[in-house]
Amino acid sequence: MELNGISLDELGIVYYPHPALRQRAKHIDEIDESIEKLARKMVELMYANKGVGLAANQVGVPVRLFVANPTGEKGNELIFVNPEIVEANGWAEAEEGCLSLPQIYGNVRRNKTVIIVATDLAGARREMKVTDLLARIVQHESDHLDGRLIVDRFSVLAKMSCRSRLKELEALARKSS
Ligand code: CO
Repeated sequence: MELNGISLDELGIVYYPHPALRQRAKHIDEIDESIEKLARKMVELMYANKGVGLAANQVGVPVRLFVANPTGEKGNELIFVNPEIVEANGWAEAEEGCLSLPQIYGNVRRNKTVIIVATDLAGARREMKVTDLLARIVQHESDHLDGRLIVDRFSVLAKMSCRSRLKELEALARKSS
């Protein structure tokens, strides 16, 4: 698989306004060695950055894959390939952050419980009913695969209060490019 021309060792978290964060990620046709390696690398990066979830768009590779671990305990990571949320129930609002949007936090309304169908690395299609934090994570990461970020879901007020930080991140990206 083509990792967007990036070698695995060079993969790192990309920050807003990196274009991969706004791309709709592509369906994964085959779980080959490169997808497995990519998933392992993403798990590593998630732990190194103390995140509870990471989508492939966030390492600059827009394919439909994300990893999650609501406990943060190593070994409990979950890997979702071609995930689809097939049912959603209830509502809950809580503060979220994102590894690609450093120092930006805001409340996001999400479904409290969702049923997600995804393929694991062994190629098995599984259905999982998740609630609370894990439900929030899978919705946040599914958003990434559709090119959507938490700021898109912020209230008008929360959007206004993170505007200058977004401008800062844009300026940082212009400086380093
Ligand atoms: Co995120």
